[in-house]
Amino acid sequence: MGLQDDVAKVLIPPDALQARISELAAEINATYTDADRLILVCVLKGAFMFLADLTRQLTVRHEVHFMETSSYGAATSSSGVVRILLDLERSIEGRHVLIVEDIIDSGRTLSYITRNLRTRNPASLRVCTLLSKPSRREMQVPVDLVGFEIPDEFVVGYGLDYAEEYRNLPFVGVLKEEVVQER
Ligand code: PRP
Repeated sequence: MGLQDDVAKVLIPPDALQARISELAAEINATYTDADRLILVCVLKGAFMFLADLTRQLTVRHEVHFMETSSYGAATSSSGVVRILLDLERSIEGRHVLIVEDIIDSGRTLSYITRNLRTRNPASLRVCTLLSKPSRREMQVPVDLVGFEIPDEFVVGYGLDYAEEYRNLPFVGVLKEEVVQER
């Protein structure tokens, strides 16, 4: 049995992901100029695949930097605790920063990250997320660009994991119930 056999349904197929990412990239290209010296802050691990496709569609000059946070253990819902596992290695003072996230669920991670980065005095701070689950929001955080609003289902693939697996699936999908129960 392969990974794909664990999938109950495909929510967003690869071509729909790429088409929407092109639109997001066009908006980013139109928002910033080369003189802005944009910094993308990719929030690992989930956003790595989105970042990789997004950055290749950007024509505006930019740098890519990484942070890693963790809110979930192996469970499928947020514990509410956000930890910085890896911090930026450079200052963002006076720089235009765009946070690149894979998903906003309760909003706790993004709320923590935006509050934290704002104390570092960037020139501007915006947020681009591939996925958002508005029905799950516990903390209101402004989000500038959203790829897809999705229903309250636990999704994997295209960077998103269940117990650290399934990140490599080329689509966003939902796992079979028995797969989640077995773990
Ligand atoms: C996921 C996702 C977001 C966060 C969203 O990260 O990448 O950062 O949860 O949930 P929230 O809005 O309820 O805070 P996770 O902690 O699972 O780490 P990962 O990206 O390394 O898998």
